[in-house]
Amino acid sequence: LNLFIHSTAELETLLGHRIAKRTPLHEWPLSSVELLTTAGGSRFAYKVQHEPTVEPEFLAHGHSPLLPDHQLLLRDGHQATLLFPIIEAPTLNDEACSEAALVAEGRALVEAIATIEGDVPVYLDVGSIDAWRSAARHTVDMLTALVHRGIFTLHRTDLDLLSAWVDRPEVLDAVDRTSGIINGDLKSEHVFRRGTGYKVIDWQRPYRAPREIDLVSLLDDAGIPSHRYVSQAVIAVRWFLFLHWVAEARTHLLPDAPFFDAWAHRGMNAFRHAVAPTA
Ligand SMILES: Nc1ncnc2c1ncn2[C@@H]1O[C@H](COP(=O)(O)OP(=O)(O)O)[C@@H](O)[C@H]1O
Ligand SMILES: [Mg+2]
Repeated sequence: LNLFIHSTAELETLLGHRIAKRTPLHEWPLSSVELLTTAGGSRFAYKVQHEPTVEPEFLAHGHSPLLPDHQLLLRDGHQATLLFPIIEAPTLNDEACSEAALVAEGRALVEAIATIEGDVPVYLDVGSIDAWRSAARHTVDMLTALVHRGIFTLHRTDLDLLSAWVDRPEVLDAVDRTSGIINGDLKSEHVFRRGTGYKVIDWQRPYRAPREIDLVSLLDDAGIPSHRYVSQAVIAVRWFLFLHWVAEARTHLLPDAPFFDAWAHRGMNAFRHAVAPTA
């Protein structure tokens, strides 16, 4: 995967400032984020991401105080490159927070994300029974093909469990009645406290899906058992969407990456635990 990374000279021209320092913040095969510090001391996050991403379009069309300021530097069918002024505020990850307080923050975030206005694109829409069924079928098909090719080592009974569970009434009810735009990767380090509200970053792969999935992600990231607060159907949809991403990424994006089978097992174990917590 070849990502085009601007040279420092190119970035200086685009910013109109001399860059004193470039520091890697986060790197994996599909994206790279660097911290840029200008000679004048301003700081920016320089984010280069491979397709699939809807982040530039989501930020362009979404209207909400939650969304970060940004500048689009490059967009083509292969990648998107964005520049963000560093949000100089603590994240939820910087604060010691009780379980009850984090649950309350998570619920407030779910509410705030639901008020994002504008015709925003999503990476995947599972927010109606038809959309859910078709995405779910596609997911099981991709997983089945990966198992047949010997790439994933999930068990036949796991695939059967996934297929049968998709049509359960509580699942159809959750997707049909509780869906909205979600961040899809909500975690403490993505949430900055801004006055009485928040800024939320990383809108690479938002979904239309049950809204409380963002609460599940936030609690998981903090090591809090989400089943205390969220229905098992919604937790299981969250892990099903994770399996969708793992299958999609292994099938279409990173066919040589060695780690996806382990991710598939992680997703499957979490899914099994969600649907049968005592098993
Ligand atoms: N606008 C910003 N302000 C402060 N920190 C940021 C900003 N954008 C990104 N970061 C930092 O860089 C990390 C990676 O950025 P993110 O958008 O989450 O990309 P990735 O897709 O690599 O996870 C974030 O977790 C955060 O620590
Ligand atoms: Mg991130």
